[in-house]
Amino acid sequence: MSRNRAATVKQLPLEWRALIAAATEARNKAHAPYSRFAVGAAVRTASGRIFAGCNVENASTGLTVCAERVAIWKAVSEGERQFEALAVVSEHGAMPCGACRQVLSEFALKLPILVADTAGHVLVTSLEALYPQPFTSASLGEGLTREDET
Ligand code: THU
Repeated sequence: MSRNRAATVKQLPLEWRALIAAATEARNKAHAPYSRFAVGAAVRTASGRIFAGCNVENASTGLTVCAERVAIWKAVSEGERQFEALAVVSEHGAMPCGACRQVLSEFALKLPILVADTAGHVLVTSLEALYPQPFTSASLGEGLTREDET
């Protein structure tokens, strides 16, 4: 995708590297006995705080929660709603799932997203690129507008 930029972690600004480091550390706490697929995520708030999360699986499969959502739940429940960037780390650099994209869109439609693997490769993208037409609070009221028509 042309709006995505591949890089190595070393080439990124310090703030983004710190976010990937926090996600990598959180990944070590993943509770993933069923998939054996560990994921870590970290979100940086406008106030400069970092909230990290890991995936938390459950024997009742549908109750599993992704690392990205755990990080967002932690931040929002601590009073943070303005986000500057999100990093997600897995062994081979998996993209955020659709449910997490929708949850992120509640707070930051253009959020920069760093998708990293454990070897130090990173894809720099954004929620705008990954999820261009979210369901938002506006969707509850307005319905289709002229701009949506083709
Ligand atoms: N997972 C995440 O934590 N984030 C994603 O964006 C995709 C999937 C987790 C959920 C589950 O614990 C495991 O990866 C396999 O699907």
